[in-house]
Formats: sequence, structure tokens, C-alpha cells
Amino acid sequence: MKKIIAGLLIASAMLLADGYKQADRIADMQKMAQAMQDIQSGFFYNNADIVKAGVKDLKETIVKIRPIDSEVNNKDIYEKWLNNNMKMTHKIQKKIKQKAEDIEERFVDGDAVQALQAYSKISGQCMKCHVNLRKW
Ligand code: HEC
Repeated sequence: MKKIIAGLLIASAMLLADGYKQADRIADMQKMAQAMQDIQSGFFYNNADIVKAGVKDLKETIVKIRPIDSEVNNKDIYEKWLNNNMKMTHKIQKKIKQKAEDIEERFVDGDAVQALQAYSKISGQCMKCHVNLRKW
């Protein structure tokens, strides 16, 4: 029984700091930057498949973004609060997912103007985190 409890405690500790490292986040960011480029190429070449592939990559990756282990474990309360502002992160993630869906819908409908508008809203959300949350 003791062993089971110890195992459960270790498992839950691992869930709290589950190994999301800086390198992982940089890789995810680069994947999203690539997805945004793909979507843009899809617009310019008028190719819905490329747009859809970019939207899919973006939607799959944005949900993975979160504070990395060293931020979760930061001893500086203010920095920790800033970097772990999950409420704002979730809001941004939700918006990016929604707008990504809008892009696909509008573009497939032949409404490239609306698709482009949704695209620039996504760029705005990316920068919202980089500038506001991160103070970049
Ligand atoms: C919730 C916050 C957040 C959101 C949302 C976000 N980013 Fe980032 N981004 C970061 C942080 C933090 C870094 C710095 C990563 C590091 O160096 O540790 C970063 C870095 C980057 C980098 C540089 C990666 C490198 O090679 O150094 C790119 C490119 C990037 N983001 C693209 C995007 C794009 C595109 C989006 C939107 C689709 C986006 N980001 C949305 C927080 C965010």
C-alpha cells in the first residue's frame, strides 16, 4: 500500500512539472511559425490543401504551449505569476484555434478577404503573448 501511495505521489509530481522544456517550446514555436507561413503560401497560390495543412499544424501545436518547468518552479513570485499567466494563455490559445478554423472555413468558401482577416488576427494573438505577457 505504501508503495502504491509513493508511486501515486511521484506520478502526480511528474504531472505538475511534466518535462516541458525550453527546447520543446522553441520547437513548438517554430512549428507554428512554419504553419503560419504555409497558410500564407496557400493563400498566395490559391491552394486550399496547403491552407488546411497549415491550419491543422497550428491547431495541434498551439494547445501544447505552456510555462516550462523552470518557470513553474521559479522562486520569484512576480516572475512566476507573469510567466505562468495561464488564464491569458488559455484565452489566446482559444482565440487562435477559433481563428484558425475561421481561416479554413472562409478560404474553402472562397472568401479570401475574411480568411486573411482571421490570419492577421492570429498574428495579433501571437504578438499579444510575446509583447504583453512576456514583455518582449
Ligand atoms: C502563450 C505565449 C505565446 C504564444 C501564444 C505564442 N508564443 Fe511564440 N514564443 C513564446 C515564448 C515564451 C517564446 C520564447 C521561447 C524561448 O526562447 O524560450 C516564443 C518564441 C517564439 C519564436 C522564436 C523561436 C526561436 O527559434 O527562438 C517564434 C518564431 C514564435 N514564438 C512564433 C509564434 C507564433 C507564430 C505564434 C502564434 C501562432 C506564437 N509564437 C504564439 C510565447 C508565446
